[in-house]
Amino acid sequence: MEAPSEPRADRAPRDPAKPLAGANVVVCVGGGIAAYKAAEVVRRFDKAGAHVDVAMTERAQAFIGPLTFQALTRRPVFTDLFSLTEEATIGHIQLADRADLVVVAPATANLIARLAAGQADDPVAAIALATKAPVLLAPSMNVHMWAHPLVQANVRRLVDVAGYRVVGPGDGFLACRWVGPGRLAEPADIVEAAAHVLSVQDLAGARVVVTAGPTYEAIDPARFIGNRSSGKMGAAIAAAAQRRGAEVTLLLGPSAVPPPIGVRTIAVETAAQLEAALGDAAARADVVVMAAAVADYRAAKPAAHKLKRGELGKKATIELAANPDLLAGLGARRKGRAPLLVGFAAETEKVLEHARKKLEVKKVDLIVANDVSEPGAGFAVDTNRVTLVDADGATEVPAGTKAEVAHRILDRVVAMRAAAAPVKKRKAR
Ligand code: CTP
Repeated sequence: MEAPSEPRADRAPRDPAKPLAGANVVVCVGGGIAAYKAAEVVRRFDKAGAHVDVAMTERAQAFIGPLTFQALTRRPVFTDLFSLTEEATIGHIQLADRADLVVVAPATANLIARLAAGQADDPVAAIALATKAPVLLAPSMNVHMWAHPLVQANVRRLVDVAGYRVVGPGDGFLACRWVGPGRLAEPADIVEAAAHVLSVQDLAGARVVVTAGPTYEAIDPARFIGNRSSGKMGAAIAAAAQRRGAEVTLLLGPSAVPPPIGVRTIAVETAAQLEAALGDAAARADVVVMAAAVADYRAAKPAAHKLKRGELGKKATIELAANPDLLAGLGARRKGRAPLLVGFAAETEKVLEHARKKLEVKKVDLIVANDVSEPGAGFAVDTNRVTLVDADGATEVPAGTKAEVAHRILDRVVAMRAAAAPVKKRKAR
Protein backbone atom coordinates (compact mmCIF):
# COMPACT_ATOMS: atom_id res chain seq x y z
CA MET A 1 0.00 0.00 0.00
CA GLU A 2 1.42 3.34 -0.99
CA ALA A 3 1.26 6.23 1.45
CA PRO A 4 -0.06 9.41 -0.12
CA SER A 5 1.94 11.62 2.23
CA GLU A 6 5.39 11.34 3.80
CA PRO A 7 5.59 7.92 5.50
CA ARG A 8 6.29 8.31 9.22
CA ALA A 9 8.71 5.40 9.49
CA ASP A 10 11.12 7.10 7.06
CA ARG A 11 11.43 10.28 9.08
CA ALA A 12 14.71 11.00 10.79
CA PRO A 13 14.87 10.04 14.49
CA ARG A 14 14.10 13.00 16.71
CA ASP A 15 16.55 14.71 19.03
CA PRO A 16 15.37 13.53 22.46
CA ALA A 17 16.11 17.03 23.78
CA LYS A 18 13.40 18.43 21.47
CA PRO A 19 11.29 15.55 20.20
CA LEU A 20 8.29 17.81 19.60
CA ALA A 21 10.11 20.32 17.40
CA GLY A 22 8.66 20.02 13.90
CA ALA A 23 6.40 17.11 14.89
CA ASN A 24 2.85 16.99 13.52
CA VAL A 25 0.60 16.65 16.52
CA VAL A 26 -3.17 16.35 16.24
CA VAL A 27 -5.00 17.25 19.44
CA CYS A 28 -8.48 15.71 19.54
CA VAL A 29 -10.74 17.47 22.03
CA GLY A 30 -13.58 15.53 23.65
CA GLY A 31 -16.73 16.95 25.19
CA GLY A 32 -15.98 17.27 28.91
CA ILE A 33 -15.52 20.20 31.22
CA ALA A 34 -11.72 19.75 30.97
CA ALA A 35 -12.00 20.74 27.28
CA TYR A 36 -11.02 24.26 28.30
CA LYS A 37 -7.66 22.90 29.51
CA ALA A 38 -7.01 21.55 26.00
CA ALA A 39 -6.26 25.16 24.99
CA GLU A 40 -3.27 25.13 27.36
CA VAL A 41 -2.19 21.72 26.05
CA VAL A 42 -2.29 23.08 22.49
CA ARG A 43 -0.38 26.20 23.49
CA ARG A 44 2.35 24.11 25.10
CA PHE A 45 2.69 21.88 22.03
CA ASP A 46 2.93 25.00 19.87
CA LYS A 47 5.57 26.45 22.18
CA ALA A 48 7.57 23.22 21.97
CA GLY A 49 7.75 23.72 18.20
CA ALA A 50 5.11 21.18 17.11
CA HIS A 51 2.75 21.80 14.17
CA VAL A 52 -0.57 21.42 15.91
CA ASP A 53 -3.94 20.63 14.35
CA VAL A 54 -7.10 20.40 16.39
CA ALA A 55 -10.16 18.24 15.84
CA MET A 56 -13.18 18.54 18.10
CA THR A 57 -16.24 16.46 18.86
CA GLU A 58 -19.58 18.21 18.59
CA ARG A 59 -19.98 18.19 22.40
CA ALA A 60 -16.50 19.67 22.91
CA GLN A 61 -17.71 22.76 21.05
CA ALA A 62 -20.31 23.29 23.78
CA PHE A 63 -17.43 23.80 26.24
CA ILE A 64 -14.93 25.75 24.15
CA GLY A 65 -15.13 27.39 20.74
CA PRO A 66 -13.13 26.25 17.69
CA LEU A 67 -12.01 29.86 17.26
CA THR A 68 -9.85 29.55 20.39
CA PHE A 69 -7.94 26.66 18.85
CA GLN A 70 -7.77 28.30 15.45
CA ALA A 71 -6.18 31.36 17.04
CA LEU A 72 -3.71 29.25 19.02
CA THR A 73 -2.68 27.05 16.09
CA ARG A 74 -3.19 29.52 13.22
CA ARG A 75 -4.79 26.60 11.34
CA PRO A 76 -8.36 25.53 10.55
CA VAL A 77 -10.03 23.36 13.20
CA PHE A 78 -11.79 20.12 12.25
CA THR A 79 -15.31 19.90 13.60
CA ASP A 80 -17.43 18.25 10.91
CA LEU A 81 -16.73 15.06 9.00
CA PHE A 82 -19.20 16.05 6.31
CA SER A 83 -18.22 19.70 5.90
CA LEU A 84 -17.97 20.85 2.31
CA THR A 85 -15.05 23.14 3.18
CA GLU A 86 -13.08 21.27 5.88
CA GLU A 87 -13.41 18.04 3.94
CA ALA A 88 -12.92 19.35 0.39
CA THR A 89 -9.65 17.38 0.28
CA ILE A 90 -10.70 14.66 2.76
CA GLY A 91 -8.96 16.64 5.49
CA HIS A 92 -9.36 14.13 8.29
CA ILE A 93 -7.46 11.45 6.36
CA GLN A 94 -4.71 13.89 5.39
CA LEU A 95 -4.43 14.87 9.03
CA ALA A 96 -4.33 11.25 10.17
CA ASP A 97 -1.64 10.41 7.59
CA ARG A 98 0.51 13.41 8.36
CA ALA A 99 0.35 12.99 12.14
CA ASP A 100 3.38 11.92 14.15
CA LEU A 101 1.18 11.74 17.23
CA VAL A 102 -2.52 11.98 18.03
CA VAL A 103 -3.41 13.22 21.50
CA VAL A 104 -6.96 12.80 22.81
CA ALA A 105 -7.48 15.39 25.57
CA PRO A 106 -9.82 15.28 27.32
CA ALA A 107 -10.85 11.70 26.58
CA THR A 108 -14.33 11.38 28.10
CA ALA A 109 -15.98 8.07 29.01
CA ASN A 110 -18.21 8.41 25.96
CA LEU A 111 -15.35 9.18 23.58
CA ILE A 112 -13.28 6.30 25.01
CA ALA A 113 -16.25 3.96 24.40
CA ARG A 114 -16.58 5.14 20.79
CA LEU A 115 -12.85 4.74 20.17
CA ALA A 116 -12.83 1.27 21.76
CA ALA A 117 -15.71 0.26 19.51
CA GLY A 118 -13.73 1.34 16.44
CA GLN A 119 -16.33 3.92 15.44
CA ALA A 120 -15.53 6.67 12.95
CA ASP A 121 -18.60 8.85 13.20
CA ASP A 122 -16.95 12.24 13.76
CA PRO A 123 -13.57 13.82 12.91
CA VAL A 124 -12.01 12.81 16.26
CA ALA A 125 -12.94 9.12 16.05
CA ALA A 126 -12.16 9.00 12.32
CA ILE A 127 -8.67 10.48 12.79
CA ALA A 128 -7.90 8.13 15.68
CA LEU A 129 -8.99 5.17 13.57
CA ALA A 130 -7.27 6.23 10.35
CA THR A 131 -3.90 7.21 11.75
CA LYS A 132 -0.86 4.99 11.94
CA ALA A 133 0.74 7.36 14.44
CA PRO A 134 0.78 6.58 18.17
CA VAL A 135 -2.30 7.74 20.05
CA LEU A 136 -1.99 9.24 23.53
CA LEU A 137 -5.14 9.24 25.64
CA ALA A 138 -5.62 11.78 28.45
CA PRO A 139 -8.81 10.67 30.23
CA SER A 140 -10.98 13.02 32.24
CA MET A 141 -14.29 12.19 33.84
CA ASN A 142 -16.18 11.70 37.09
CA VAL A 143 -14.36 9.52 39.63
CA HIS A 144 -17.00 6.76 39.58
CA MET A 145 -17.17 6.73 35.79
CA TRP A 146 -13.38 6.26 35.67
CA ALA A 147 -13.57 3.43 38.21
CA HIS A 148 -16.38 1.70 36.30
CA PRO A 149 -15.33 -1.72 34.98
CA LEU A 150 -16.73 -0.90 31.54
CA VAL A 151 -14.60 2.26 31.23
CA GLN A 152 -11.57 0.37 32.54
CA ALA A 153 -12.22 -2.46 30.06
CA ASN A 154 -12.50 0.05 27.20
CA VAL A 155 -9.22 1.69 28.15
CA ARG A 156 -7.54 -1.72 28.46
CA ARG A 157 -8.84 -2.62 25.01
CA LEU A 158 -7.43 0.59 23.53
CA VAL A 159 -4.07 -0.13 25.18
CA ASP A 160 -3.88 -3.87 24.47
CA VAL A 161 -5.52 -4.07 21.07
CA ALA A 162 -4.64 -0.70 19.56
CA GLY A 163 -1.41 0.18 21.44
CA TYR A 164 -2.75 3.45 22.85
CA ARG A 165 -0.72 5.16 25.57
CA VAL A 166 -2.44 6.73 28.55
CA VAL A 167 -1.46 9.74 30.65
CA GLY A 168 -3.37 10.34 33.87
CA PRO A 169 -6.00 10.83 35.01
CA GLY A 170 -4.71 12.79 37.96
CA ASP A 171 -6.08 12.68 41.46
CA GLY A 172 -7.83 15.76 42.76
CA PHE A 173 -10.86 17.94 43.10
CA LEU A 174 -13.17 17.32 40.15
CA ALA A 175 -15.72 19.61 38.53
CA CYS A 176 -18.44 17.22 39.79
CA ARG A 177 -17.14 18.03 43.32
CA TRP A 178 -15.97 14.49 43.97
CA VAL A 179 -12.36 14.08 44.95
CA GLY A 180 -10.36 11.25 43.37
CA PRO A 181 -8.89 10.08 40.10
CA GLY A 182 -10.64 11.54 37.06
CA ARG A 183 -8.96 14.90 36.63
CA LEU A 184 -7.27 15.58 33.30
CA ALA A 185 -3.50 15.19 33.66
CA GLU A 186 -1.71 18.52 33.94
CA PRO A 187 -0.98 20.05 30.52
CA ALA A 188 2.77 19.92 31.26
CA ASP A 189 2.48 16.20 32.04
CA ILE A 190 0.52 15.53 28.83
CA VAL A 191 3.18 17.31 26.78
CA GLU A 192 5.99 15.41 28.56
CA ALA A 193 4.17 12.10 27.92
CA ALA A 194 3.97 13.10 24.24
CA ALA A 195 7.69 13.93 24.22
CA HIS A 196 8.34 10.49 25.72
CA VAL A 197 6.30 8.79 22.97
CA LEU A 198 8.16 10.65 20.20
CA SER A 199 11.66 10.43 21.69
CA VAL A 200 14.14 7.74 20.75
CA GLN A 201 14.11 4.99 23.38
CA ASP A 202 17.83 4.32 23.31
CA LEU A 203 17.94 3.69 27.06
CA ALA A 204 14.95 1.32 27.03
CA GLY A 205 15.30 -1.23 29.79
CA ALA A 206 18.44 0.37 31.25
CA ARG A 207 18.43 0.87 35.01
CA VAL A 208 19.86 4.31 35.63
CA VAL A 209 20.65 5.72 39.08
CA VAL A 210 21.21 9.47 39.33
CA THR A 211 22.30 11.34 42.45
CA ALA A 212 21.59 15.05 42.65
CA GLY A 213 21.64 18.05 44.92
CA PRO A 214 23.75 18.87 47.95
CA THR A 215 24.12 16.94 51.17
CA TYR A 216 23.48 18.59 54.52
CA GLU A 217 25.73 17.55 57.39
CA ALA A 218 24.35 18.50 60.77
CA ILE A 219 26.33 20.69 63.15
CA ASP A 220 23.41 20.72 65.59
CA PRO A 221 19.64 20.21 65.13
CA ALA A 222 19.31 23.67 63.51
CA ARG A 223 22.53 24.13 61.54
CA PHE A 224 24.33 22.23 58.86
CA ILE A 225 27.28 22.24 56.48
CA GLY A 226 25.91 22.37 52.93
CA ASN A 227 26.80 23.67 49.50
CA ARG A 228 25.33 25.63 46.59
CA SER A 229 24.18 22.66 44.49
CA SER A 230 20.53 23.09 43.46
CA GLY A 231 19.93 19.57 42.16
CA LYS A 232 18.80 20.97 38.78
CA MET A 233 21.46 19.26 36.64
CA GLY A 234 20.93 15.85 38.21
CA ALA A 235 17.14 16.15 38.04
CA ALA A 236 17.46 17.11 34.35
CA ILE A 237 19.55 13.98 33.73
CA ALA A 238 16.99 11.81 35.53
CA ALA A 239 14.13 13.32 33.47
CA ALA A 240 16.08 12.94 30.23
CA ALA A 241 16.93 9.29 30.95
CA GLN A 242 13.29 8.58 31.79
CA ARG A 243 12.19 10.18 28.48
CA ARG A 244 14.62 7.90 26.65
CA GLY A 245 13.10 4.78 28.17
CA ALA A 246 15.33 4.12 31.19
CA GLU A 247 14.05 2.91 34.54
CA VAL A 248 15.34 5.76 36.67
CA THR A 249 16.00 6.13 40.38
CA LEU A 250 16.89 9.60 41.58
CA LEU A 251 18.62 9.99 44.95
CA LEU A 252 17.98 13.63 45.73
CA GLY A 253 19.60 15.70 48.45
CA PRO A 254 17.77 18.66 50.05
CA SER A 255 16.50 20.56 47.02
CA ALA A 256 13.60 22.72 45.86
CA VAL A 257 13.65 21.00 42.47
CA PRO A 258 10.39 19.14 41.75
CA PRO A 259 11.01 15.40 41.32
CA PRO A 260 10.74 14.56 37.60
CA ILE A 261 7.51 12.89 36.47
CA GLY A 262 7.71 9.10 36.41
CA VAL A 263 11.04 8.94 38.19
CA ARG A 264 11.33 7.02 41.46
CA THR A 265 12.78 9.68 43.74
CA ILE A 266 14.32 8.95 47.12
CA ALA A 267 15.05 11.93 49.35
CA VAL A 268 18.32 11.86 51.29
CA GLU A 269 19.95 14.45 53.49
CA THR A 270 23.45 13.40 54.53
CA ALA A 271 26.35 11.75 52.71
CA ALA A 272 25.82 8.71 54.95
CA GLN A 273 22.17 8.45 53.87
CA LEU A 274 23.18 8.86 50.25
CA GLU A 275 25.80 6.14 50.67
CA ALA A 276 23.21 3.72 52.09
CA ALA A 277 20.65 4.46 49.35
CA LEU A 278 23.33 4.27 46.66
CA GLY A 279 24.57 0.91 47.93
CA ASP A 280 21.14 -0.62 47.32
CA ALA A 281 20.38 1.11 44.03
CA ALA A 282 23.81 0.85 42.38
CA ALA A 283 23.97 -2.92 42.93
CA ARG A 284 21.22 -3.36 40.32
CA ALA A 285 22.12 -0.43 38.06
CA ASP A 286 23.44 -0.38 34.51
CA VAL A 287 24.46 3.28 34.76
CA VAL A 288 25.22 5.47 37.78
CA VAL A 289 25.46 9.24 37.30
CA MET A 290 26.87 11.03 40.34
CA ALA A 291 25.72 14.61 39.93
CA ALA A 292 25.30 15.14 43.68
CA ALA A 293 27.64 17.56 45.40
CA VAL A 294 28.53 15.27 48.28
CA ALA A 295 30.04 17.04 51.28
CA ASP A 296 33.62 15.90 51.72
CA TYR A 297 33.40 16.50 55.48
CA ARG A 298 30.81 16.24 58.22
CA ALA A 299 30.85 17.51 61.79
CA ALA A 300 32.67 14.82 63.77
CA LYS A 301 30.36 15.19 66.78
CA PRO A 302 27.13 17.00 65.91
CA ALA A 303 25.57 18.55 69.01
CA ALA A 304 22.32 16.98 70.22
CA HIS A 305 20.96 20.41 71.24
CA LYS A 306 20.99 23.74 69.46
CA LEU A 307 24.30 25.42 70.26
CA LYS A 308 23.85 28.66 72.15
CA ARG A 309 25.63 31.85 71.21
CA GLY A 310 29.06 31.88 72.84
CA GLU A 311 28.82 28.23 73.84
CA LEU A 312 31.88 27.37 71.73
CA GLY A 313 33.90 30.32 73.00
CA LYS A 314 35.17 33.33 71.06
CA LYS A 315 37.19 31.43 68.47
CA ALA A 316 35.17 28.35 67.77
CA THR A 317 36.44 25.30 65.93
CA ILE A 318 34.19 22.56 64.63
CA GLU A 319 35.96 19.27 64.36
CA LEU A 320 35.30 17.64 60.98
CA ALA A 321 35.46 14.01 59.94
CA ALA A 322 36.04 13.02 56.31
CA ASN A 323 33.15 11.47 54.39
CA PRO A 324 33.96 8.56 52.12
CA ASP A 325 34.27 9.29 48.39
CA LEU A 326 31.14 7.46 47.22
CA LEU A 327 31.97 7.53 43.51
CA ALA A 328 35.53 6.29 44.06
CA GLY A 329 34.05 3.52 46.23
CA LEU A 330 31.81 2.41 43.35
CA GLY A 331 34.77 2.61 40.96
CA ALA A 332 36.98 0.51 43.23
CA ARG A 333 34.33 -2.13 43.96
CA ARG A 334 32.92 -2.78 40.52
CA LYS A 335 33.99 -5.82 38.61
CA GLY A 336 34.51 -5.19 34.92
CA ARG A 337 32.65 -2.26 33.41
CA ALA A 338 29.26 -2.57 35.12
CA PRO A 339 27.70 -0.30 36.10
CA LEU A 340 28.89 2.42 33.76
CA LEU A 341 30.05 5.24 36.05
CA VAL A 342 29.66 8.94 35.31
CA GLY A 343 31.08 11.52 37.71
CA PHE A 344 31.00 15.29 37.81
CA ALA A 345 33.87 17.65 38.45
CA ALA A 346 32.79 21.08 39.61
CA GLU A 347 35.89 23.22 39.36
CA THR A 348 36.89 26.85 39.51
CA GLU A 349 40.38 26.49 37.98
CA LYS A 350 42.43 24.04 35.86
CA VAL A 351 39.15 22.36 34.94
CA LEU A 352 40.42 19.73 32.49
CA GLU A 353 43.47 18.84 34.56
CA HIS A 354 41.34 18.18 37.64
CA ALA A 355 38.72 16.33 35.59
CA ARG A 356 41.32 13.97 34.08
CA LYS A 357 42.68 13.27 37.54
CA LYS A 358 39.20 12.47 38.87
CA LEU A 359 38.58 10.14 35.89
CA GLU A 360 41.71 8.20 36.78
CA VAL A 361 41.63 8.27 40.59
CA LYS A 362 37.93 7.42 40.87
CA LYS A 363 38.19 4.74 38.13
CA VAL A 364 35.11 5.95 36.26
CA ASP A 365 34.15 5.94 32.58
CA LEU A 366 33.21 9.56 32.10
CA ILE A 367 33.65 12.84 33.93
CA VAL A 368 31.37 15.79 33.23
CA ALA A 369 33.55 18.79 33.98
CA ASN A 370 32.27 22.29 34.48
CA ASP A 371 33.70 25.58 35.55
CA VAL A 372 31.24 26.69 38.20
CA SER A 373 32.77 30.16 38.34
CA GLU A 374 31.62 30.86 34.75
CA PRO A 375 28.38 32.85 34.37
CA GLY A 376 25.55 30.66 33.03
CA ALA A 377 27.18 27.43 34.22
CA GLY A 378 27.09 25.37 37.37
CA PHE A 379 25.13 25.99 40.53
CA ALA A 380 21.49 27.12 40.68
CA VAL A 381 21.24 28.49 37.10
CA ASP A 382 19.12 26.84 34.38
CA THR A 383 21.91 26.63 31.81
CA ASN A 384 25.24 24.85 31.76
CA ARG A 385 28.43 24.51 29.77
CA VAL A 386 30.32 21.26 30.29
CA THR A 387 33.18 19.25 28.88
CA LEU A 388 33.01 15.47 28.66
CA VAL A 389 36.25 13.83 29.66
CA ASP A 390 36.88 10.14 29.09
CA ALA A 391 39.87 7.89 28.35
CA ASP A 392 39.86 9.07 24.72
CA GLY A 393 40.01 12.79 25.45
CA ALA A 394 37.85 15.82 26.09
CA THR A 395 34.82 17.04 24.13
CA GLU A 396 33.14 20.35 24.75
CA VAL A 397 29.34 20.25 24.85
CA PRO A 398 27.69 23.36 23.40
CA ALA A 399 26.22 25.59 26.12
CA GLY A 400 22.52 25.03 26.59
CA THR A 401 19.73 24.50 29.06
CA LYS A 402 20.40 21.85 31.68
CA ALA A 403 17.81 19.65 29.88
CA GLU A 404 19.74 19.95 26.59
CA VAL A 405 23.08 19.33 28.28
CA ALA A 406 21.56 16.32 30.07
CA HIS A 407 20.66 14.76 26.71
CA ARG A 408 24.15 15.37 25.32
CA ILE A 409 25.63 13.61 28.37
CA LEU A 410 23.23 10.72 27.82
CA ASP A 411 24.13 10.60 24.10
CA ARG A 412 27.65 9.79 25.25
CA VAL A 413 26.40 7.24 27.79
CA VAL A 414 24.38 5.53 25.05
CA ALA A 415 27.42 5.48 22.74
CA MET A 416 29.64 4.06 25.49
CA ARG A 417 27.09 1.35 26.29
CA ALA A 418 26.86 0.43 22.61
CA ALA A 419 30.67 0.26 22.32
CA ALA A 420 30.92 -1.91 25.45
CA ALA A 421 28.10 -4.28 24.45
CA PRO A 422 29.32 -7.66 23.29
CA VAL A 423 28.85 -8.00 19.53
CA LYS A 424 26.01 -10.44 18.97
CA LYS A 425 27.10 -13.46 17.05
CA ARG A 426 25.52 -13.67 13.63
CA LYS A 427 23.02 -16.46 13.29
CA ALA A 428 24.46 -19.48 11.51
CA ARG A 429 22.94 -19.76 8.07
N1 CTP B 1 31.80 12.56 45.10
C1 CTP B 1 31.46 11.46 45.84
N2 CTP B 1 31.68 11.43 47.19
C2 CTP B 1 32.26 12.48 47.80
C3 CTP B 1 32.62 13.61 47.04
C4 CTP B 1 32.38 13.62 45.70
O1 CTP B 1 30.94 10.50 45.29
N3 CTP B 1 32.47 12.42 49.10
C5 CTP B 1 31.56 12.54 43.66
C6 CTP B 1 30.65 13.66 43.15
O2 CTP B 1 29.31 13.25 43.13
C7 CTP B 1 31.17 13.92 41.75
C8 CTP B 1 32.65 13.56 41.87
O3 CTP B 1 32.78 12.74 43.00
O4 CTP B 1 30.61 13.05 40.81
C9 CTP B 1 33.55 14.74 42.00
O5 CTP B 1 33.10 15.60 43.01
P1 CTP B 1 33.88 16.92 43.34
O6 CTP B 1 33.23 17.58 44.51
O7 CTP B 1 34.07 17.72 42.09
O8 CTP B 1 35.28 16.38 43.69
P2 CTP B 1 35.95 15.82 44.97
O9 CTP B 1 36.26 14.39 44.73
O10 CTP B 1 35.17 16.14 46.20
O11 CTP B 1 37.30 16.63 44.91
P3 CTP B 1 37.57 18.19 45.18
O12 CTP B 1 36.52 18.67 46.13
O13 CTP B 1 38.94 18.14 45.77
O14 CTP B 1 37.56 18.87 43.85
